[in-house]
Amino acid sequence: MDFQRFLVLLSISTLFSKSIIPFAKPITTADEERPFLDPSCLLCPKSSVAIKNRTVPSSTADSIPVSTPDCAVWGAKACAEAVLGYARRPETAEWIRSLRRRIHENPELAFEEFETSKLIREELDSMEVSYKYPLAKTGIRAWIGSGAPPFVAIRADMDALPIQEAVEWEHKSKVAGKMHACGHDAHVAMLLGAAKILKSRQHLLKGTVVLLFQPAEEAGNGAKGMIGDGALENVEAIFAVHVSHMHPTGIIGSRPGPLLAGCGFFRAVINGRRGSAGDPHHSVDPILAASAAVISLQGIVSREANPLDSQVVSVTSFNGGDNLDTIPDTVILGGTFRAFSNTSFYQLLHRIEEVIVEQASVYRCSGTVDFFQNESTIYPPTVNDEKMYEHVRKVAIDLVGPTNFRVVPPMMGAEDFSFYSQVVPAGFFYIGIRNETLGSTHTGHSPYFIIDEDVLPLGAAAHATLAERYLNEHE
Ligand SMILES: *[C@@H]1O[C@H](CO)[C@@H](O)[C@H](O)[C@H]1NC(C)=O
Ligand SMILES: *[C@@H]1O[C@H](CO)[C@@H](O)[C@H](O)[C@H]1NC(C)=O
Ligand SMILES: *[C@@H]1O[C@H](CO)[C@@H](O)[C@H](O)[C@H]1NC(C)=O
Ligand SMILES: *[C@@H]1O[C@H](CO)[C@@H](O)[C@H](O)[C@H]1NC(C)=O
Repeated sequence: MDFQRFLVLLSISTLFSKSIIPFAKPITTADEERPFLDPSCLLCPKSSVAIKNRTVPSSTADSIPVSTPDCAVWGAKACAEAVLGYARRPETAEWIRSLRRRIHENPELAFEEFETSKLIREELDSMEVSYKYPLAKTGIRAWIGSGAPPFVAIRADMDALPIQEAVEWEHKSKVAGKMHACGHDAHVAMLLGAAKILKSRQHLLKGTVVLLFQPAEEAGNGAKGMIGDGALENVEAIFAVHVSHMHPTGIIGSRPGPLLAGCGFFRAVINGRRGSAGDPHHSVDPILAASAAVISLQGIVSREANPLDSQVVSVTSFNGGDNLDTIPDTVILGGTFRAFSNTSFYQLLHRIEEVIVEQASVYRCSGTVDFFQNESTIYPPTVNDEKMYEHVRKVAIDLVGPTNFRVVPPMMGAEDFSFYSQVVPAGFFYIGIRNETLGSTHTGHSPYFIIDEDVLPLGAAAHATLAERYLNEHE
């Protein structure tokens, strides 16, 4: 998928439009498509399977009238098909679509998802799904199944963006200046769809599925707050999906290991002493010190990082002085840094500070560096556990077939799902929403962002199958 463009939609890192980092502007990225690895190595023909058919007790709400194979290993494909069949029933698909549209019409920014959260709770109530609320202010932790271990989590983010929707359609955002331009409306609808599917298959669940509806993915580290409030209690594995306009509708993509970078920002203040530019020996020049620091920062990645371990340090802001005849007191510079391993990420942070402070001192200035740690603008790398990736791959192939599963390249974007991936084995994957006919070709965070809603039942089925099958294979 054209993850280069897609990374913008994971723009936690891109839209710090608030005052926190005044100079942090949205990241623009190249439009080029990146090739996928050859997926032919993933063509694993399935052996014929013995399916254990079960009849759903008639008391079960939304019971499936025909046979409902469970997701025991050998019935996995049949299970995926049963789940997908249920998700694609016209009444289920229409319900999920209507949820997505209701959420789309009323977008709410990070930590303000009160109505979205209320809508979710009302739907959970009507399905008789138990939940705990609030976590991280507006978040919800729902659960379906036996109530006993194992516990597996599936997660959706709820927040919208400070963007004015430019798409004219029946369900356009009704809130000026706010829009679900990153697909979180679809993520929530898919997770509610999964709740409905799982509820109908509750008697087949060999453990407990935890459904996490989290606030503030775009800004504020909602995931961190959720974890702090117990979202991962007892949970031994977690999965989440993100829509991607880079793949045609129905394609599923993922990769093992690091797939999204850790992302941080820095702002340095370099202090010298003001003076007449005609008599530089009476001043201490912070412009020269800051310039040297900028040059030295470029040496961190080029000289200290393993070339096979992708990293970035970019200085994006440099301000000091406003009089052509005066050396200023202070220069403020700043930028961003990315890395795919926790070690490299924190090493970059450490070296950025060291280089700036030391370079300032070379020129008799003093320097301090702020990494905005308090404002929650540091995101660690998102790393897929090998086994969880393998689980995603198996389930995706059962759902969409081997040719529609793709191993995707890592991207320099970031996602606060990384916080979960630091605590429990995690599997993050993408689901295509690209459809030229519908015009759903725009990158996330575009005011023209559109999704192909036909993806919704598949997304719901993917969540449900991942969870049910995980429980079956880990009871
Ligand atoms: C299970 O149900 C399917 C579809 O109803 C049927 O084709 C299959 O023969 C059944 N398998 C068993 C073991 O009863
Ligand atoms: C950041 O948080 C730490 C610990 O919570 C606190 O000691 C420190 O004063 C805070 N710094 C700022 C700039 O708010
Ligand atoms: C990442 O590194 C930081 C700093 O060294 C450390 O505090 C944190 O625990 C590490 N996280 C993981 C998952 O290793
Ligand atoms: C795109 O959407 C149209 C209209 O819903 C549909 O007919 C077509 O099959 C879709 N294309 C893909 C690739 O999903």
